[in-house]
Amino acid sequence: MKLVFLGPPGAGKGTQAERICEKYGLVHISTGDMLREQIEAQTDIGRLAGELINRGELVPDEVVIRMVMDRIAMNDANRGFILDGFPRTVAQAEKLPEFIDVDLVVNIDVPMEKLIHRITNRRSCPHCDIVYNIAVHKAEICDKCGRQLVLRDDDTPEVAMERFHVYRARTLPIINYYEAKNVLVHVNGDQVVEAVTDEIVREIEKGCL
Ligand code: AP5
Repeated sequence: MKLVFLGPPGAGKGTQAERICEKYGLVHISTGDMLREQIEAQTDIGRLAGELINRGELVPDEVVIRMVMDRIAMNDANRGFILDGFPRTVAQAEKLPEFIDVDLVVNIDVPMEKLIHRITNRRSCPHCDIVYNIAVHKAEICDKCGRQLVLRDDDTPEVAMERFHVYRARTLPIINYYEAKNVLVHVNGDQVVEAVTDEIVREIEKGCL
């Protein structure tokens, strides 16, 4: 199974990708996570990505495409995967069929006015990488290891507004691209996490199994 999860910043792509990967034994390939690992490791890609991400801008297509292609070529990806955060531009979407055929593209719809709250309420555990919504979770401590949760550098209201702007200009056109290819389904991301997962599972079972 080769799936793509699309949606604006904060729509729940990462949250849902984790849950669906666990259910079907797929590999979660998140370009945002991969870039943050490069930043942490202070590589050349990380230095470039860090500046762009903290301004809410996209990392250049050629850098991200190479990173994803190398990841897809790794052995564990043979069991199937979810691409989360890729493709994000039409150029990236047009490159993908040179490497793989996508089975299903899931677009997670959430009204724009809700997204800013999800983003500014997001905290993650630096140790376990678990992501929380503190409006729901309430405590700023990780349930699993007890460490203090942290805010992502690009989750400030100012940077989030720029990310929404970039999403509308650069990523929304991909929806038309995949609609024309008849592989796109929309799910309602404005429900509790479990209900969104159930809707995605129904679409996968109709479209891929
Ligand atoms: P990336 O990390 O991919 O960020 P994003 O697309 O902006 O998405 P987010 O991670 O913000 O949100 P999400 O949809 O995964 O939501 P989540 O599940 O966390 O990319 C970061 C940056 O890297 C980009 O800006 C760009 O610079 C660069 N980049 C990445 N890929 C690139 C590419 N292909 N090309 C170029 N540049 C690239 O959920 C959000 C919050 O809501 C959490 O707190 C969660 O707990 C909560 N939540 C989730 N679902 C629900 C629900 N149903 N109800 C209530 N709360 C919920």
